[in-house]
Amino acid sequence: MNIMDELTTIEERALDELAAVVDLTALAEWKSSYLGKSGAITRLSRGMGALPAAERPVVGQQVNALRQALDQAYSAAEARLKAAAREAALASERVDVTLPGRAPDVGRLHLTTQVLRQIIAIFAEMGFQVWESREVETDEYNFGLLNFPPDHPARDMQDTFYVDMPPGAPEVLLRTHTSPGQIHAMRRYAPEPLRVLLPGKCYRNEQVTARSEIQFHQFEFLAIGRKITMGDLRGTLDFFAQRMFGKGTRTRLRPSYFPFTEPSAEMDVSCFLCGGKGCRVCKYSGWLEIGGCGMVHPNVLHNGGYDPTVFSGFAGGFGPERIALMKYGIDDIRWFHSGDLRFLEQFS
Ligand code: DAH
Repeated sequence: MNIMDELTTIEERALDELAAVVDLTALAEWKSSYLGKSGAITRLSRGMGALPAAERPVVGQQVNALRQALDQAYSAAEARLKAAAREAALASERVDVTLPGRAPDVGRLHLTTQVLRQIIAIFAEMGFQVWESREVETDEYNFGLLNFPPDHPARDMQDTFYVDMPPGAPEVLLRTHTSPGQIHAMRRYAPEPLRVLLPGKCYRNEQVTARSEIQFHQFEFLAIGRKITMGDLRGTLDFFAQRMFGKGTRTRLRPSYFPFTEPSAEMDVSCFLCGGKGCRVCKYSGWLEIGGCGMVHPNVLHNGGYDPTVFSGFAGGFGPERIALMKYGIDDIRWFHSGDLRFLEQFS
């Protein structure tokens, strides 16, 4: 092939190949194969020595012109590919500012806290003030001063977490109910009348089941004054039940026994799910059991520093988890301490 024809062929092939180049790596390869040290143009220039002297200037010009043309085509292609790469990068980093944001995961009050706060607010309407009492108690406060006989079964090692103490020290335990707070509150206020609500944790050494946990909450309510009767207890319970479970809720008292009250009762509320007609939740009785209450036993009044011939009072102790179980149809008390967000997030 004559050298001029060869120049034309190289130019056509180079431009065709360049048009097919899609990225900068392929472009660099193209450059080295045409314009590089051992590329086609360099090879042509080297071959010029073999030409007759007369032809060299003309062919030299043509080779230079071709080099320039390919250089220009290269620059244009490089600019095009870099622009395309920038566009692609921009497109991949594109942010849709119209997308709604992701809400940060914030904490919320635990269901037990929510229910306790609701209870505190209801009793506050009736003039009860919140009183916090210790969780670590002596046997004397948890049982003795509450009129438990020394051999009462509730003192059993099976039910109570006792704290190891040095010999001769008083018996120390984790309170099994909020009732010892009654004695602390009475001793603080006697002989003034009082109305207190004592919420807090309690502990029982029991088998953990769907119905009972070893750690749970109670709230104790206690009112002491000069002419307090069981009618006041009923009125307080009615008000509480209607605020907590809804307007039409009725209450009833069933005779019961606690060492620290006389008389003692269990308080039931009419089932707020079926309105008392009977359903699965109230086991077709129309009533739900809430907890114990009664008139404060004269011995307990006396231990608290009140003269039982002058003062009387009522008290009760209910479980907020139990109330929440019924109110929200929760099937297992272990959910409360499960730490499972799927459970907790339902109550916000
Ligand atoms: N302390 C009792 C319990 O844990 C509940 C209770 C019953 C508290 C009657 C009271 C009461 O104040 O009067 O089962």
